[in-house]
Amino acid sequence: MNIAVFVSGRGSNLEAILVSAELKGLCNVSVVCSDKLDCPAFQIAKQNNIPFFSVSEFPKNGFVTFQELQGIFAEKEIELIVLAGFLKLMPKEFVRSFSFKIINIHPALLPSFGGKGMYGIRVHEAVFKSSAKVSGATVHFVNENYDEGLIIDQAVVSIADVQSAEEIAQRVLKLEHQLLPSVIAKIAQRRVEIKNNRVYLT
Ligand code: GRF
Repeated sequence: MNIAVFVSGRGSNLEAILVSAELKGLCNVSVVCSDKLDCPAFQIAKQNNIPFFSVSEFPKNGFVTFQELQGIFAEKEIELIVLAGFLKLMPKEFVRSFSFKIINIHPALLPSFGGKGMYGIRVHEAVFKSSAKVSGATVHFVNENYDEGLIIDQAVVSIADVQSAEEIAQRVLKLEHQLLPSVIAKIAQRRVEIKNNRVYLT
C-alpha cells in the first residue's frame, strides 16, 4: 500500500512509520507533504529518498496546490493519507475526494482536548490543568472539522504522577510512535471495518 504522510514539524511520527518493523513489506511511504516550505521533517524525507512537496490551498511560489497534489497522488497510486503532526485544515473538496482514506494522530484522548487551536504543547497543558489521571493518543479518520472523524484506535498512559505538561508530552509521544504504525498496518491488512458509525478492528 502506497501512503502519503503530511507533516508540519520535526517528523518523529514520520520516522516511526519509516522504521516500523510491523510495516515492513506492508506499506511504502511514497510522498511526504507539508504546509511549510522548509519543514524540518523534509530532512527525513531527503535521507530516505522520498519525494516531498510543500502544499498550499492557493497557488504560491514553491508550493503545489491541493488540486495538483491529487494528480500526483493518482500517479503514485496513493491509497492512504496519514496526517502525522500536520497542522492545517485540508480543503473540504480534498477531504471529500479521499473519504475514509485520510487518518490523523492526535496527542490526547479524543473527543476531549481536541479541536481548533488544540495542538502541540497546548493539548498537554490543557490535560495537565484538567487534573486528568490518564492521557493518550488517538488515531481517527479525518472529516471536514478538526479532530472530529470516527475514532479508529486509542492508546492510554497513566499521568497520575507527572509534574508538568512536558512530561505528559513525552509519555504520549512514545505511545504515538507505536499506535500510528499499528493502525496503518491494520488498514493495509484490511482489518479496519466501519459499521453503525463505529470503527471495528479485526
Ligand atoms: C505529535 O504529537 C502529533 O500527535 C501532533 O503533533 C506532534 C507531531 O510530532 N499532532 P512529530 O512532528 O511527529 O514529531
